[in-house]
Amino acid sequence: MAAGIDDISIFIPRLYMDARDFAEARGLDPQKLVKGLGVSKMAIVDANQDAACLAANACLKIMQKNKLSPEQIGRLYVATESSFDESKAMNSYVIGMLEQVYGDGSFQHCGGIECKFACVSGSYALYDNINWIRAGESEDKHALVVVSDIAKYDLGSSGEMTQGGGAIAMLLNESPRLLEFDPKVTSTSIKNEYDFYRPFGKETPIVHGQYSNLLYLIQVKNALIDYKRKALKTGLIVMKEGQSMLDHIDYFNMHLPYSNMGKKALAYLVRHELRSTPKWKEIIAEIGMEEPIPNDPRGTIESIISDLDFMTKDSEFTKRFVRTDTYQEIYENKVASSLIASKSIGNIYTASLYLGFRSCLEYEFQKGVNLDGKRFGFASYGSGSSAMVFSGVIQPEYIEIVKDMNLEAEIGERQKLSLSDYEELHENKRTPEQSILNAKKEFILEHVEKISSDKRGERRYAFVK
Ligand code: HMG
Repeated sequence: MAAGIDDISIFIPRLYMDARDFAEARGLDPQKLVKGLGVSKMAIVDANQDAACLAANACLKIMQKNKLSPEQIGRLYVATESSFDESKAMNSYVIGMLEQVYGDGSFQHCGGIECKFACVSGSYALYDNINWIRAGESEDKHALVVVSDIAKYDLGSSGEMTQGGGAIAMLLNESPRLLEFDPKVTSTSIKNEYDFYRPFGKETPIVHGQYSNLLYLIQVKNALIDYKRKALKTGLIVMKEGQSMLDHIDYFNMHLPYSNMGKKALAYLVRHELRSTPKWKEIIAEIGMEEPIPNDPRGTIESIISDLDFMTKDSEFTKRFVRTDTYQEIYENKVASSLIASKSIGNIYTASLYLGFRSCLEYEFQKGVNLDGKRFGFASYGSGSSAMVFSGVIQPEYIEIVKDMNLEAEIGERQKLSLSDYEELHENKRTPEQSILNAKKEFILEHVEKISSDKRGERRYAFVK
């Protein structure tokens, strides 16, 4: 049975920190953020927002747009790593908020859980719900998968320039207008790692930045190798002599902790794919240096990172490789549009991959490209660590959805934060009543109980008309 994404909605907090102001405050060259990482604005949550209300707002938008009633939703999954309870799932808060609009008990029939595996959990949630539909369990109901996160790092840390926040809701069903997933090719890789993690009780993660970058690339490559094996085995892709996966996948969407990670990942994966094709010889001649090999090619990631000679040569090789016409053509045609939205929003962990997907749809449509029948490859990564690679094909009715996409209009009027307001919000010095913006037609957090012992941690939300 077919299954896929029928529609997609986005909710982004309207406050933002400007990359140039931020760089100046931290004594950094603004070009490191803007050019080096591809970050120009970071969306920042207000004092009356948390990941649950971002998720509820994205769900409400998609339900209202499609005139859906709660009876038509069979499952509501929330994938997040911004959870605030060890036991009560974020879904229950989201259902509670939606029932303020649709009526008490209106979602009673609906199942779902909160999913966790850093940024990759949204993709696992999507996969599980797609299989619920494929298995014929949905009885014509839709599944809603919401990915919602607030990326927040310690003040002054190197991760602080890659913050962001927002939620994306995806409506799944058996006759999707947007994208139908390819069956039997979804592939994963997994390994116990400490590249990025957030122990209980800590609001911000412990991060080994460069290690996480390299681990992301290796894990995604491992999942891609398995995807390729499955795609060839099932006949989804028939590869002719001299071809690579690049000849069969029209667009690549990558997990985007910052926009330029998409470029980095593409370069790594394209190098891997082209290495065994006849074209590679020409590329090496154009680059003017041999591809470097680590001293210990079978070594650990730590041993590769500490092999400074290799790391320097590899960085030089990558710099030259991304300037080749071959790479530039692949980059422009298959990835560039997916990186645009991330620049002005930042990392939204679970939602970042899907922000890239949405960005690609909107900006390719604006370029006048016909996307009907195009195959999209997705490379999802979550620290800790796991990668998932899968693909799907754009459906003829996609125009119905994509023609109305307008990221700026959907976010609404944004307000730039001063450094002091940003730091006050970051350090949780404002209560929900002291929010900076006045909410309109959205769910907000009103109160978190901190005193009463039998109600400690209870959260109260309201829908502001
Ligand atoms: P850093 O180490 O300070 O930055 O932090 P850098 O020195 O690597 O510089 C970044 C880029 O800017 C480099 O380009 C520099 O050359 C360039 P590259 O070599 O990569 O092409 N640069 C400049 N360019 C122009 N003008 C200048 C200039 N200076 C430097 N003046 C890091 C970067 C990403 C490590 C840091 O921000 C960090 O730790 N972020 C958080 C962790 C992270 O995002 N990791 C990404 C992979 S892991 C992942 O994606 C999972 C995650 O989303 C969590 C989850 O799964 O839940 C994070």
